[in-house]
Amino acid sequence: MKSALPIGIFDSGVGGLSVLRDIRKELWNEDLLYVADSNHAPYGDKEAEYIETRSIAISQFLVDQPVKAIVVACNTATSAAVAQLRAKFKVPIVAMEPAVKPAVETTQSGVVGVLATRRTASSDNFLNLLARFSSNANIMVQACPGLVEQVEAGDLHGDKTRSLLETFVFPLLEKGADTLVLGCTHYPFLAPLIRSMAGVEVNIIDPGEAIARELRRRLASIGQLSRHEHRGSEQFWTSGSPDIAKELISQLWETDVEVKRLPEV
Ligand code: DGL
Repeated sequence: MKSALPIGIFDSGVGGLSVLRDIRKELWNEDLLYVADSNHAPYGDKEAEYIETRSIAISQFLVDQPVKAIVVACNTATSAAVAQLRAKFKVPIVAMEPAVKPAVETTQSGVVGVLATRRTASSDNFLNLLARFSSNANIMVQACPGLVEQVEAGDLHGDKTRSLLETFVFPLLEKGADTLVLGCTHYPFLAPLIRSMAGVEVNIIDPGEAIARELRRRLASIGQLSRHEHRGSEQFWTSGSPDIAKELISQLWETDVEVKRLPEV
């Protein structure tokens, strides 16, 4: 029965755990397989072809497990590879996109800031998204090189992370942004720090919950929601060092977990 199969989720590293968290809240009885492509992170500074090759290899690994659906828990991989993944694999593929639409619909000041990786910020998908909504608000896009590395190092509050974030967030606030879109799945782990800079009035949008709801809708529409009556499990793989990943994922997932080495893909 397909409904009993797990769901595969991947990211360049640990960022997609922010999406995994929302999926776990939305779908308590699903088994979840998570792949962190840590040995190849960050994706945001790489060529699109490289990210496409990695995304296809990891999706193939997940499909071979097998899984009933894949969540591309990475805006950068979505912008570089989602069309190719959808063309190649038959399972439903749910993918990220910076939450520009809800931001434009809710901003009061008419100024929206989007934080993203360099690759996402310059991708055709994202530029098309901006073109669709830029007549409704002033949308400022801020590429944030270096931030993913800070999260990968488990540094969510330190001085270096703070000062890097300040250089990205303060200019947006100074230009009147009342809404900040977290356009990379690593950034929700920095939301408390961003909140401390932006204050309580600024709306910080993390699309993770919407993605989890979309996943539920897709599975429900094909009758593949889990019928298990027990809490689902999580399994983790990394293309980097399992020992380092174990420590970091246990920190971010707030539970001690085992992490397996991803076979060479
Ligand atoms: N977490 C990713 C994203 O949502 C990828 C970041 C990176 O590896 O540069 O864009």
